[in-house]
Amino acid sequence: MTAPILITGGTGTLGRLIVPLLHQAGHPVRTLGRTPHQHDLDGVEHITADINASTRDTGGGLDAALTGVHTVIHCAGSAKGDDDLARTLVRAARKAGVRHLVHISVVGADRVPVVSRVDRAMFGYFAAKHAAEHVITGSGIPWTILRATQFHDWIWNTLHQLAKLPIMTTWRGVRFQPVDTGEVAARLAELALAGPAGLVPDLGGPRVHRMEDLARDYLRATGRHRLVLPVKTPGTAAAAFRAGANLTTDALDQPTDQPTGRRTWQDHLTQRTTRQ
Ligand SMILES: NC(=O)c1ccc[n+]([C@@H]2O[C@H](COP(=O)([O-])OP(=O)(O)OC[C@H]3O[C@@H](n4cnc5c(N)ncnc54)[C@H](OP(=O)(O)O)[C@@H]3O)[C@@H](O)[C@H]2O)c1
Repeated sequence: MTAPILITGGTGTLGRLIVPLLHQAGHPVRTLGRTPHQHDLDGVEHITADINASTRDTGGGLDAALTGVHTVIHCAGSAKGDDDLARTLVRAARKAGVRHLVHISVVGADRVPVVSRVDRAMFGYFAAKHAAEHVITGSGIPWTILRATQFHDWIWNTLHQLAKLPIMTTWRGVRFQPVDTGEVAARLAELALAGPAGLVPDLGGPRVHRMEDLARDYLRATGRHRLVLPVKTPGTAAAAFRAGANLTTDALDQPTDQPTGRRTWQDHLTQRTTRQ
């Protein structure tokens, strides 16, 4: 019998898009998340467990989720603590005999210095993602790491939050290279099936946008009216962002063989607004 592929965070924005791809490729799939979930695809099961809680309850749900699994795609994550999640997962995965750990990280994980309290408050996520990468690479389990730029969905959700106030403050001088979440999912599925590959080329979206332009696009697409106010963000991490640390090197005019997403931010806005 084919071993199931475990997708941690397989109910999240990214993970849930990987599920049907692996299913269509004929693989049994298991997802893991803290919230109970029922998949409507045959051969896809969900295990409800908190990876963090697994340190206290000596494995529990996480151990059950890893039983018989050779490949894990690790998409569980949040704004904080991805390094702790990776540590707990790696401990359990080693015990379970996992042969391939696929990890999603973020472009700039190694280029956004988090040195002060201000940096940590705003960009601590990048330090945690970098620490998580170290946990994976030092795990002794064969691994693949893909760094992606910000997903269209994340940009949309962030702007949606910012638009709740009458003035939308954006980060002056900061650009984003949003990528389609489905394209990241497809790349992760491909990598998981191909076997351990180490750090693979970064995946970013097709265009680079100033944050204030993304905000204005969002407002136009949703028919809202807000004053957009770009404000300079303090700190070393913010300066690295202004220098483009969150963009792929191709986007920074240092051409490599990096794959580039095809779907644009405009495509995403069209899809969102015609769905509403
Ligand atoms: N969003 C972006 O722009 C972006 C860019 C580059 C990389 N990434 C990375 O991509 C990954 C997925 O991001 P996403 O946007 O899909 O996040 P998301 O929508 O917030 O989904 C997170 C998933 O992880 C699960 N999860 C969170 N904490 C968990 C825990 N302690 N134990 C078990 N499951 C847990 C959640 O399910 P429950 O809530 O039910 O537990 C959910 O399924 C993250 O590692 C993120 O850092 C994101």
